[in-house]
Amino acid sequence: MLYPLLATLAAYLLGSLSFAVIVSRAMGLSDPRTFGSKNPGATNVLRSGSKPAAIATLLLDGVKGWLPVALVGWYGKPYGLEDGTIALVGLAAFLGHLYPVFFKFVGGKGVATALGVLLGIHWALGLMAIITWLIMAYAFRYSSLASLSAALLAPVYYVLWGGTTWYTETPVLLSICAMGSLLVYRHRENIARLLKGTESRLGKKTQKPG
Ligand code: G3P
Repeated sequence: MLYPLLATLAAYLLGSLSFAVIVSRAMGLSDPRTFGSKNPGATNVLRSGSKPAAIATLLLDGVKGWLPVALVGWYGKPYGLEDGTIALVGLAAFLGHLYPVFFKFVGGKGVATALGVLLGIHWALGLMAIITWLIMAYAFRYSSLASLSAALLAPVYYVLWGGTTWYTETPVLLSICAMGSLLVYRHRENIARLLKGTESRLGKKTQKPG
């Protein structure tokens, strides 16, 4: 019981590192919580005009989701860490991103971290979610719509492909569904803007900080 708890706590603390804020500060850019969608995430960092900062944010936010899940998968068995712990650490890293203890519990929408968690669960699952995001982003130029599509399809991919090719575990499936539901909830303002036709498109720098 102690090891699963410690792993979950460590994953939450890692998830609480809001890399959009950290990277922006390190690169001397405006705080992403002050412009654009005000979301501390890679998409909003891109609105600052710095592609390297956005890519660094995307990768680091992704790694903090992937790493705890991968570590439990690789080294957890001797410590009694099985699929239940994989489900817990993934969700904990994701919750850390949404409600970071180091940033007054005001975090991001969880897209990159969720993709990292999915990659940690199984590379093919993560890859399918990333491809979904890329296709939707290319087709419609809305980061939020691409994220929502990937989040809604991830549990479907897990059940359909996982069930026949690797494995499907109920705690992991529940964790993926919980992440997807929270991700949709965190995108409620984006959904309203998408419905009104006022959502900002990828590549437009209309909300660049002054
Ligand atoms: O990275 C989150 C994305 O899905 C939407 O971001 O800044 O357009 O609200 P944003």
